[in-house]
Amino acid sequence: MAHAIRIHENGGPEVLKWEAVDVGEPGPGEARIRQTAIGLNYIDVYHRTGLYKLAALPAVIGMEGAGRVEAVGPGVTDVKVGDRVAYGTVLGGYAEERLIPADRLVKLPDDISDVTAAAIMLQGMTARYLLRETYHVTPETVMLFHAAAGGVGLIVCQWAKALGATMIGTVGSDEKAALAKSAGCTHVINYRTEDYVARVREITGGSMCDVAYDSVGKDTFPSSLDCLKPKGLWVSFGNASGPVPPFDMTLLSVKGSLFATRPTVMAYTAQRADLLANAADLFAMIAKGAIKVEPTTYALKDAAQAHRDLEARKTTGSIVLVP
Ligand SMILES: NC(=O)c1ccc[n+]([C@@H]2O[C@H](COP(=O)([O-])OP(=O)(O)OC[C@H]3O[C@@H](n4cnc5c(N)ncnc54)[C@H](OP(=O)(O)O)[C@@H]3O)[C@@H](O)[C@H]2O)c1
Repeated sequence: MAHAIRIHENGGPEVLKWEAVDVGEPGPGEARIRQTAIGLNYIDVYHRTGLYKLAALPAVIGMEGAGRVEAVGPGVTDVKVGDRVAYGTVLGGYAEERLIPADRLVKLPDDISDVTAAAIMLQGMTARYLLRETYHVTPETVMLFHAAAGGVGLIVCQWAKALGATMIGTVGSDEKAALAKSAGCTHVINYRTEDYVARVREITGGSMCDVAYDSVGKDTFPSSLDCLKPKGLWVSFGNASGPVPPFDMTLLSVKGSLFATRPTVMAYTAQRADLLANAADLFAMIAKGAIKVEPTTYALKDAAQAHRDLEARKTTGSIVLVP
C-alpha cells in the first residue's frame, strides 16, 4: 500500500502523520502518478496551520510534485502511461502515489530532472508570473523583493538579473545576503539589522521602487509601501510572518496613489494554455542556464522536520521531499 503524509487536524508540525493510504484507480479525466520528488512550499504551512482552510480533513497537504504516470482514466488525452510529469498547484502532494486531474500535469523535457521539477513548478511559475505578468519587469525597473534567499526568492534573483532589472532584496541573515547576491540580486539588505526603507532611499538616491514584492506580510506592512515611487505597485503575495491586517484604502492614497494587488499562482495558471506557457518559459530559462536550483532534500517521512526548519527561517532556496 502507498504511504502519504496526512493531517487529521490543524496545528504544528506534529500533526503531519505518515500513514498508509488507498490511492485507488483514476476516474474520468484523472491520472495516477508515482512520485519521485515532492516540492515543499510555504503554502503547505498555511494549510497545516489552518491559515488557509482545507475543504475537508483528513487531508494530504502539498501542492507540487514530479514522477511518472502509472495509469489514466477515461477521456485523458494530455498525458499517457509512462510519461514523466510534474505539477505545482494541486493539493495532495505529500504522497508516494496520487490521483490528479490530468490537465494539471505538464510533461517534463529530458533536461529537467524530477528533483528540479519538484523544486521549480510552484516557486518558478510564481517567479515568472510576478516578473512577467503582475508587473512587466524591464531593465529600467527598480524592484524591492523581500525574503530574497528563499525558494521563490533565489529564482527571482536569477530571473530579475536575466531581465536586467535592479533588484533590491531583503534577507534575514548575512549568510542569506551572500547567497542572494551570488544569485544575481543587485543590492541586498539584512532587514533584521538594517532599516530597509532608509537603505532603499539611499540605494535609489531617493527615487524609490517601481514595484515592491512582499510575501512576508504582517512584519513588513505598511513599511513596504514606503519603498515605492508615487503610483508604484505593491504586490502582496504571501504571509510568512502572518497576514497583512485589514487597512483603510486611503493608505494607498497618502502613500502616493499606489496600486495594490494580491495575486496567486493558481489564478495565473488556471487555464491550461497559461499553465503550459508559464512552464515552457520556466523550462527554457533552466535549459539556457539562466536559472539554476540546488534544492535541499528531506525524506518525505521527515516532512515535519522540514516544516520546522522552514518556519524557523533556517532554510534557503527550494526544498524537495523524497518519497
Ligand atoms: N501568491 C503566490 O502565488 C505565491 C506562490 C508561492 C509562494 N508564495 C509566498 O511566497 C513566500 C515565499 O515562499 P517560499 O515557499 O519560497 O518560502 P521561503 O521564502 O523559502 O521561506 C519563507 C521566508 O520568509 C522569510 N520570513 C520573514 N519573516 C518570517 C517569519 N516570521 N517566519 C517565517 N519566515 C519568515 C524568511 O526569510 P528571511 O530569513 O530571509 O527573512 C523565510 O526563509 C511565502 O510567503 C509564500 O506563501 C506565494
